[in-house]
Amino acid sequence: MKRDATNYLVIGATGKTGSRVHSKLTSLGFNVKGASRQGEVHFDWRAPETWSAALVGVEVVYLTYYPDLATPEAPDDIAKFCALARIKGVKHITLLSGRGEPAAQVCEDIVKTSGLSWTIVRASWFNQNFSEGMFHDFVQAGSIALPVGAVTEPFIDVDDICDVVVASLLDVNHDGKLYEVTGPELLSFAQLAEVFTEVLKRPVEFAQIPQQAFVQSMESHGVEPKAIDMLTYLFTEVLDGRNEYTVDGVQQALGRPAKSFKTFVIDNIQAFGGANNA
Ligand SMILES: NC(=O)c1ccc[n+]([C@@H]2O[C@H](COP(=O)([O-])OP(=O)(O)OC[C@H]3O[C@@H](n4cnc5c(N)ncnc54)[C@H](OP(=O)(O)O)[C@@H]3O)[C@@H](O)[C@H]2O)c1
Repeated sequence: MKRDATNYLVIGATGKTGSRVHSKLTSLGFNVKGASRQGEVHFDWRAPETWSAALVGVEVVYLTYYPDLATPEAPDDIAKFCALARIKGVKHITLLSGRGEPAAQVCEDIVKTSGLSWTIVRASWFNQNFSEGMFHDFVQAGSIALPVGAVTEPFIDVDDICDVVVASLLDVNHDGKLYEVTGPELLSFAQLAEVFTEVLKRPVEFAQIPQQAFVQSMESHGVEPKAIDMLTYLFTEVLDGRNEYTVDGVQQALGRPAKSFKTFVIDNIQAFGGANNA
């Protein structure tokens, strides 16, 4: 059943999922406020005085947290934000969460017990980390150098996450549901590199590097320290095999399967400079 709402707030609206959700809702004719530090509505998780103005007149929120719900500040921020949202008249929150992170599940529970209607979308690693995120340069350089071994991950396309999120924002049938969403196949980082090599018709190799070398590489790319700490946590703790399974959350929510990694590379080939046909 269609949700009776027209006023939406997207937090993290300049990010990978937020930008897509913002565009989709806007194209459907809803009033959408896009919030982030650099966005049209100024919102900063580290400056709670910016939260209240962003929530004025809002009925439904798509909530992404940065850098990750597993950071120590997150539970307090999420609890305070939900309490404020309720006072401001928000009816529903859809929360983006991450798989295999017990600390993120603490934040999920805070949203679930907030008194607001909720949907949780708990996602695996994004394909778009390689086309829009911090690993894009690795693909362009032909060498994906990361502190990780043969562990596999069911990478998911952000377009699929966007479709699940938008469905949950528009239709009350998704209220009270937790969708764990993954891509359709498990791939190691070496296998990802093989997909890039095949589709782009140029060598893209994978190399396992020490943690310290990775941190130095991220620092030289200007990645902020908190994000580097989070990546270190993800590579050293979360990527230990606990997430080596696929689930059908996209199918459950949308009635269609999730996109494969190879399809993602083909669909986004221009982001990688096209295929080498020489
Ligand atoms: N990437 C993945 O593979 C993955 C997988 C599962 C779950 N997730 C979750 O998805 C969320 C987004 O992760 P991402 O790395 O993919 O991010 P992203 O797409 O790069 O987006 C980050 C967004 O957050 C905003 N932002 C950054 N710092 C902020 C602050 N202090 N206050 C308010 N907004 C802020 C950014 O905009 P401004 O710079 O304008 O502030 C941007 O809109 C995180 O919670 C992450 O745990 C990510």
